[in-house]
Amino acid sequence: MIDVLIIFGPNLNRLGTREPQIYGSHTMADIMSYLEVEASRHSLEIAMMHSNDEGELVTAIQKARCTARAILFNLATYAHTSVALRDAVAMFEGPRVEVHLSDNYQRGSFRQISLTAPVSGGAIVGFGADFSLLGLDAINRLLSRNGDRDPKLAERDAGKKND
Ligand code: DQA
Repeated sequence: MIDVLIIFGPNLNRLGTREPQIYGSHTMADIMSYLEVEASRHSLEIAMMHSNDEGELVTAIQKARCTARAILFNLATYAHTSVALRDAVAMFEGPRVEVHLSDNYQRGSFRQISLTAPVSGGAIVGFGADFSLLGLDAINRLLSRNGDRDPKLAERDAGKKND
């Protein structure tokens, strides 16, 4: 069991060159490396995946029920449109946090509705690539609150504090 599966949805593989005035200049690979750094700071074991395909994202979330304690996801445009992904997120029992780089509430009206945020523990929007910091911090807090950290990792953290 890993701690967090981090999921990138459609078109996020084009970050960096895709509408940089809205999404910034960080590529998906940059953001993945920030997430690696944050994860190791929190001693969280993570895996990351990207897909442009709705069905693949549904399957990844279904599988995560048996392989990850928490999910952190930017489902991109599917957050606004996909009932299938909403249902997959709702099925996941552990902490779930939705993130978006841009501030959807200051954009077109169709982006102001997320089908997946209401079935998440919370959503972080509008902080650009800093969602990596804020999102993993939120997940870490939710996991600690649930007492759902891997006991081995908790032990490792305690050891670190005593070093
Ligand atoms: C996005 C916001 C969505 O509205 C959009 O469709 C995206 C990216 C974001 O991170 O700001 O693809 O999820």
